[in-house]
Amino acid sequence: PATSMEELVSLCKRRGFIFQGSEIYGGLQGFYDYGPLGVELKNNIKAAWWRTNVYERDDMEGLDASIIMHRQVLRHSGHEATFSDPMVDNKKNNKRYRLDHLVKDQKADVIAKVAEAMGQSAENFPAVVAALNANPAQASQALRDAGVRDPFSGEVGEWTEPKPFNMMFKTTIGPVADDESYGYLRPETAQGIFTNFKNVVDSTSRRLPFGIAQIGKAFRNEITPRNFIFRVRELEQMEIEFFCAPGTDEEWHEHWLEKRLSWWEAQGVPRSKIEILDVPKEDLAHYSKRTYDLMYDYPTLGHEEIEGIANRSDYDLGSHTKNQSELGLVARVEENLDSIAKLTIPHPETNKPVVPFVIEPSAGVDRAMLAVLSEAFTKETLENGNERIVLKLKPHLAPIKVAVIPLARNKAELVDLARSIKNDLQKLGLGRILLEDSGNIGKAYRRHDEVGTPYCVTVDFDTVGKGEDASLTDTVTIRDRDTLAQERVKISDLSAYLQAKLR
Ligand code: GAP
Repeated sequence: PATSMEELVSLCKRRGFIFQGSEIYGGLQGFYDYGPLGVELKNNIKAAWWRTNVYERDDMEGLDASIIMHRQVLRHSGHEATFSDPMVDNKKNNKRYRLDHLVKDQKADVIAKVAEAMGQSAENFPAVVAALNANPAQASQALRDAGVRDPFSGEVGEWTEPKPFNMMFKTTIGPVADDESYGYLRPETAQGIFTNFKNVVDSTSRRLPFGIAQIGKAFRNEITPRNFIFRVRELEQMEIEFFCAPGTDEEWHEHWLEKRLSWWEAQGVPRSKIEILDVPKEDLAHYSKRTYDLMYDYPTLGHEEIEGIANRSDYDLGSHTKNQSELGLVARVEENLDSIAKLTIPHPETNKPVVPFVIEPSAGVDRAMLAVLSEAFTKETLENGNERIVLKLKPHLAPIKVAVIPLARNKAELVDLARSIKNDLQKLGLGRILLEDSGNIGKAYRRHDEVGTPYCVTVDFDTVGKGEDASLTDTVTIRDRDTLAQERVKISDLSAYLQAKLR
């Protein structure tokens, strides 16, 4: 695995996985672009998730809802009121920071002073943050007394009281920009699932328990985006809202925890690298009854959230439904006089209409990319003493499945045959097959090791009957990324050979 974030960032840029957004104008913080190989890896991760969670189950449906949503959706979901992080300003230079990030970035003795001022132990950082958030006046005093420095200027800052900062992106809809004509870019894909609950039930005749899966962009105006693609302002999520009868929710919560850990394992992210955090009550999101955070051990960052698996109880459908008072809701919800839909479904036993409970496994695609890349990243010393970097990606995730390489680039015979082999392999539907026509075999192997191509197929003079050994005519060399073993295979056997290895 990678030992630092830096070596991943460098590989991603060098080989075309990930670039800074708007780079030619100096970049835009918190936005990244996925390059030629990044888009392939990302698509493969999403396809693997969809396969496991939709196709291989009998209790799931898919959805692709719009990104911009009616402001009433995000009002009744609770996001307008509560989707915020506390921030503080430095009056000296007008820089603004997320409170917990600011404190976390200080030297240990400063953190200890802040913790002490808040009556907490520095060992328990989440408790320090909770205390800071709960007592704004005391917090700003603590920051000043401890001499908290501005990470930008390095000087001791003059800190304001922490204030909540809503992270939703707001945008105007239509030609008139008045107080009524705005909507929000969704901060989680989940809300599109809740607002379509009735549509999906009515159109598919689903009964409890069942789930709806969706992959898509979400937007959060993070105060301090950082750590490469770990914390970005435009992110992608893979979310399931699994609807079940009240009372069965805790069992389903455990079911999904297990399923999700085994999915990560199948993507090359082992359980031993994921800690399960049973999120403390005071840190739960506004909708959650209980949440397990899967904390992956990222290089440089340490254990940070890669996926949250929340029990959202009947909070969301209960918040978005009409006739709330008649439905025996368990969650505490705000009154809703705007909704025109009753979001119930027959109870599997009593057949009476019920607002179901929801278990929500929610994973970030960008954080998945980072974890998958990090686990695959390998530095090896070869027998000849040379060092190589190789991405040992699972074959189903590899951006390029096979590179077909003519040994010399200016020999039409070799290039034409390589192209025809490439075209045949492409038809197998394994994913991207690349004609690697650079003419330098050593460089081609190095490049394909670094981008994780499982197999390189080389067309040489023997292949076209112009080498020293006539028995090798119509055979090619296959090089295995991980073992470096090279095998001579008949062109007529190539499809079956690679299909067996890559399926
Ligand atoms: N619908 C539930 C939800 O959105 P969340 O814990 O806020 O819950 C779920 O987000 C996942 O989305 C996280 O586990 C993480 O993988 C990803 N995520 C959240 N904010 C992110 C950000 N700013 N940048 C990258 N990924 C993010």
